[in-house]
Amino acid sequence: MKTDFLIIGSGIAGLSLALKLSRLGKVLVITKKLKAESNTNYAQGGIAAVFSGNDNFELHIADTLECGAGLCNEEAVRKIVTEGPERIRELIEIGTNFSKNNGELILGKEGGHSRNRIIHSNDLTGKEVERALLAKIAANRNIKIHEYYFAVDLLTSKNLKKKNRKPGQCYGIYALNVRSNKVEKIVSGRTILATGGAGQVYEHTTNPSIATGDGIAMGFRAGCEIANMEFIQFHPTSFFEAERETNYSQVFLISEAVRGAGAVLKTIKGKEFMQKYDRRKSLAPRDIVARAIDNEMKKSGDPYVCLDLKDIGGERIKKEFPNIYKYCLSKGIDITKEMIPVVPAAHYSCGGIKTDLEGKTNLKNLYASGEVTMTGVHGANRLASNSLLEAMVFSNAIYESILKQEKKNPVKKSLKYKSEIREIYDNIYDWNEEGTENTEEWILISHNNREIKEIMSDYVGIVRNTIRLERAYRRMKMMREEIRSFYKKTKVNVELLELRNLVNVAYLIIYSAMMRKESRGLHYMLDYPAKDDRNFHKDTIIVKEMLK
Ligand code: FAD
Ligand code: SIN
Repeated sequence: MKTDFLIIGSGIAGLSLALKLSRLGKVLVITKKLKAESNTNYAQGGIAAVFSGNDNFELHIADTLECGAGLCNEEAVRKIVTEGPERIRELIEIGTNFSKNNGELILGKEGGHSRNRIIHSNDLTGKEVERALLAKIAANRNIKIHEYYFAVDLLTSKNLKKKNRKPGQCYGIYALNVRSNKVEKIVSGRTILATGGAGQVYEHTTNPSIATGDGIAMGFRAGCEIANMEFIQFHPTSFFEAERETNYSQVFLISEAVRGAGAVLKTIKGKEFMQKYDRRKSLAPRDIVARAIDNEMKKSGDPYVCLDLKDIGGERIKKEFPNIYKYCLSKGIDITKEMIPVVPAAHYSCGGIKTDLEGKTNLKNLYASGEVTMTGVHGANRLASNSLLEAMVFSNAIYESILKQEKKNPVKKSLKYKSEIREIYDNIYDWNEEGTENTEEWILISHNNREIKEIMSDYVGIVRNTIRLERAYRRMKMMREEIRSFYKKTKVNVELLELRNLVNVAYLIIYSAMMRKESRGLHYMLDYPAKDDRNFHKDTIIVKEMLK
C-alpha cells in the first residue's frame, strides 16, 4: 500500500488530524481493533477550555503549570490553552453534542482547576467526540480506515535494500493485517503516530486493552527520543471490585467531575481525610489525591476508600452522571444513597515520543500526536481534561506544519512524487519471516504479560524507592531479553507484538524513574522525598543507544 498520509490510530488525535489532512491528499488511518476502540472512547470528564466570563487564558495556563510541578514547557501550555476554544468550536461544527443549559455550554470542574472550564457530554464525553469524528469521516472520500491492522514497526533506512537514503527518516510501517495474518508494508509521504497510551503495563488501569504503548515502543526502536516516561498518572478514583470479571486490567473510572460536582473522599468508616493533605481537599491535583489515598489505605489496611456523593443530590447524579450511576447500580450500589468504593489506577502516560510544537519527531516525515507524545504540555503531572485538548491542538499543529510545507513545495501531486513513492516501496524489503515458526508455547506470553503488570504495580507504582526500582529493573531486563529471543524465532501475532511493546515500555518507565533521583509531581521517591531543581529541573530523555 502507498498513501500520502498514514495515520496510526483512530482516537481523537488520529481522527481529528485525518479530517484536516484529507484537504491535502489521500489519508489512510489504520487501527488495531474496531475503529472506535481507543482511550478517547472512554473519556468521561471532558475537555478543558476557557469559555466562562470569570475565567481567562492566564488562569488556565497558571493551573496547568502549577500542576506540572515545574516541568511544563510554557510555550506548549500557552499553545493548547489559547487555541482551546477554537478547537472546541470545530468539534461543535462537526456535530459533537456537548451538555448545554439554555443554549450555553455547561462548564464542569475537576481537580487542580481554579475555575469551571470542563466542556463535556454528561459523563460520556469521549464516546460522543469519537462518534462525531467517525460520522464526519464516513462521508469523506479522501479518508480510508483499515480496522484490524496492527502497526508492527516503522520503516527507516535499515529496511531499504539500497542504502541510498539518509538515516533518520521514516518511510511508513510494516503492519500486520490481523484478518489475513500477513505482514504488509505501507509506504507513505508522511507518517503520524496517534497510538495513545500505555496503561496496560499495570495490573489495574482505566485504559482499555489497546493501550499497550505500541507507538512509544515503535518510535523508540526506530530512533525517536523518548521523554519523561517516569511520570505515570494514577487516577485517584477507579471503581473497586473485589473480584473482577475481566481477564485484562481495565477498571471502571469514577470521573473526577463527580468530585467537581461536590463528592467527597472518605475512609470506609465515613471519615474525611483530604484536609490533612491539601487545602483543595478532594479537588487537589491527582498526584496529591492518589498519594493520599495510597497512604490512607496503607495506614488502615483497608482495600479501598470511598466516595460520598450525597451532597450532589439524587436527581443531579442521575442527570449528569447517568453512565456512572448505571454502572454502579449494576454492581449493587445505588450511588444516590451509598458511597462508592474506589482505588487509584494507572490512567495516563505524561511521557512519550518527544515532539516539537509542530508535532515533529526527530525522524524526518514522522509526526506524533496525542497520548503517545511528550510535547511539554503536562510536565510532571497532567492537569485533568488537558489531554483531549492537547491531542486536538497538536493534530492541528501537524496539519498546519504540513500545509506550510506543501505551499512552499507542492510536490505531492507531481509525477516525481508518485514515482519517488513507488521507488521507495520497491526498495523496502518485504517482511521476512524466515527462521520463525508457530509456537506451542503461547502460555509463555500470558505469563510474561502478567509478570510485567505485577512487577510494575508492585515496584513502580504511586510511591517508589531505589531498592524497588532496581529490583524491577533487573527483572524487566531479563524478561526483555527472553521476549526478544522468543520474538526472533516466532511468527508474529497481536499478543506477541503487544508483549514485545509492553516490555519495552515498562523498561523505559523503570529506567527513567531510576534516572530521576528526586520527587516531583507523579514521581514520588521515598529515599529522595524533596524536589531537586538544581539537578533535575529538566526532562528525562532516552534514546535507544542508552538501553542496549
Ligand atoms: P487513543 O484515543 O487511545 O487512540 C489510540 C488509537 O491507536 C486506538 O485507535 C488504537 O487502537 C490505535 N493503536 C494503538 N496501537 C496501535 C497499533 N500498534 N497499530 C494500529 N493501531 C494502534 N482525557 C481528557 O482530557 N478528559 C477526560 O475526561 C478523560 N477521561 C478519560 C477517561 C478514561 C477512562 C481514560 C482511559 C482516559 C481519559 N482521558 C481523558 C485521557 C484521554 O482519553 C486520552 O489521553 C486520549 O483519548 C488519547 O487520545 P489519542 O488519540 O492519543 O489515543
Ligand atoms: C475524569 O473524568 O476524571 C478523567 C479526566 C481526565 O483524565 O482528564
